[in-house]
Amino acid sequence: MCGIVGFTGSRQAAPILLEGLKKLEYRGYDSAGIAVMEDGAICVQKVSGRIANLCEKTRDGEAVPGMTGIGHTRWATHGAPTEENAHPHLSNDGRFAVVHNGIIENYLTLREELIADGYHFDSETDTEVIVHLIEMYYRGNMCEALIKATNRLRGSYALGVICTEEPEKIYAVREASPLIIGVGIDENFFASDVTALVNHTRNVIYLEDGEFAELAGDSVRIFDCLGKTVEKKVSRIMWDVQAAEKGGYEHFMLKEIMEQPGAVRAAIAPRIRDGAVVFDELHMTKEDLQKIRKIVITACGSAYYAGCSGKYVLERLCRIPVEVELASELRYNDPLIDDQTLLIVISQSGETADTIAAMRECKARGARTLAIVNVVGSTVANLADETAYTWAGPEIAVATTKGYTTQVALLYLLSVHFASLLGYIRADDPKTVKALQELPRRIQQAIDLNPSIPDLAKKYHASKALFFIGRNTDYAVALEGALKMKEISYLHSEAYAAGELKHGTIALIEEHQPVIALCCNPAIMEKTLSNIVEVKSRGAEVLALTFRNNQKILSVADDLLFIPDLDPLFSPLVEIVPLQLLAYYVAKENGCDIDKPKNLAKSVTVE
Ligand code: F6R
Repeated sequence: MCGIVGFTGSRQAAPILLEGLKKLEYRGYDSAGIAVMEDGAICVQKVSGRIANLCEKTRDGEAVPGMTGIGHTRWATHGAPTEENAHPHLSNDGRFAVVHNGIIENYLTLREELIADGYHFDSETDTEVIVHLIEMYYRGNMCEALIKATNRLRGSYALGVICTEEPEKIYAVREASPLIIGVGIDENFFASDVTALVNHTRNVIYLEDGEFAELAGDSVRIFDCLGKTVEKKVSRIMWDVQAAEKGGYEHFMLKEIMEQPGAVRAAIAPRIRDGAVVFDELHMTKEDLQKIRKIVITACGSAYYAGCSGKYVLERLCRIPVEVELASELRYNDPLIDDQTLLIVISQSGETADTIAAMRECKARGARTLAIVNVVGSTVANLADETAYTWAGPEIAVATTKGYTTQVALLYLLSVHFASLLGYIRADDPKTVKALQELPRRIQQAIDLNPSIPDLAKKYHASKALFFIGRNTDYAVALEGALKMKEISYLHSEAYAAGELKHGTIALIEEHQPVIALCCNPAIMEKTLSNIVEVKSRGAEVLALTFRNNQKILSVADDLLFIPDLDPLFSPLVEIVPLQLLAYYVAKENGCDIDKPKNLAKSVTVE
């Protein structure tokens, strides 16, 4: 995830900016840059790759004089992780430089408009439109220019801006991306999070969405979106640096679970324009799609389970047969794949060895390939004919959470997009679009509805084994729920299609055996209910996950987890969230190393 920093005062800015950027490294990045005011001009230094390269290029900042500047670590979203796409971005007249964390959803429209007005672009980023808008609107007053420019933006942004006309000032703007002002003595700062500030000051101002800050060495002024001065409280940071990196959460995994409403929003919002699902990055036409006889989804681990969830929606909306294959199996299966197959490859890292090998194998047999990937410029992204990024931001915890939910979100969007191309549904079908747009809020509700999860974890953490059961889409979620549980808590957990219990597994049910029953699919709820009764009559303790007002389940289960009411077609994306939290708290009870579970690696680049 991108990180931004800014400094103004009477010390040399570049070393302070570099030090701040290093503190933001944990957020994940693939390029970095700084812009410093030097003798009335803006000096920009950027590199692709590590901050160490930027330190080398600028002799740890010593080679860049000047006492006012901004800096950035970039996690590529729009455009590859190259030096050209690294921030800061300069205006065409060289008077303004901008750093940005977030996503500008309407950048394509703005880019076309600015090009028509004569502005030229040096990068592929969404950010560059911002600096040209500021140049366009600047009439001697930065606040006015910022208000006008940001009024044109849709999306999320934390911005840092410098301007040659006001060489001792830095400006910051916040809208739906984190941004904090650091108040020092004769010097002031901004940063994406407190880690980049605490070495210099513990006095901070938290900006609200829509607020602007104008910082000079000896002054801090905050404005609202109309330019009216706002009085803000200065708070004192008590966290240590390590806690600050995790945004106050004890583990990255918990932070990433909590980030899911924002991550899923970042995946969905730019792909809904004027009330319709759009996929600017995909080029498949109706004719291309009509030639496809089957879709094969391939991936590993949780990404494979995301595919299992997506299969139901793809088949239901597009009426094309979908097979979901483990990449490690598919690669050696002599697969029945040809040029009438669409291969959807799912990978958070884009570097999983088996996934890449399966993809190569299927490509060689003529399959058309579409990748759903988080890491921009990764091998899977580069190999695919078409790539749709999940824009989840970097995941640091080994166990994926927001990586998985954004993959599922992309599969939903893709299903609606394909179905609309094929004429089964309209891309602007109001019910479907509304249901998709509501997902981030529903995830937040699923988090808020389950305050008892830490207590449930206390009850279940010492169990010998956990069985997850569900049917249909609930089964797909059960697979991921069981994987989350086993990989971080080391508690033996298995998922079963509930209808399969009678064919063997029910032999394992004995007195007090916990069974986690997923009952979020109204179409087959009654059937799952019968399975709950079957295991209960053999002594099982049932923890049911269901809609909050589902009276039938409430009356039979021993314990409950809830999801809010939502369109059942898309409920699996929300359903997993209480299970992620349960796995997290069980692992915590068991004293496990949650962010780095034993024997596991974040990116499995070997077979
Ligand atoms: C589980 C987990 C793994 C990954 C799998 C694929 O929490 O993270 O199962 O999902 O290794 O990784 P990517 O998506 O990077 O290809």
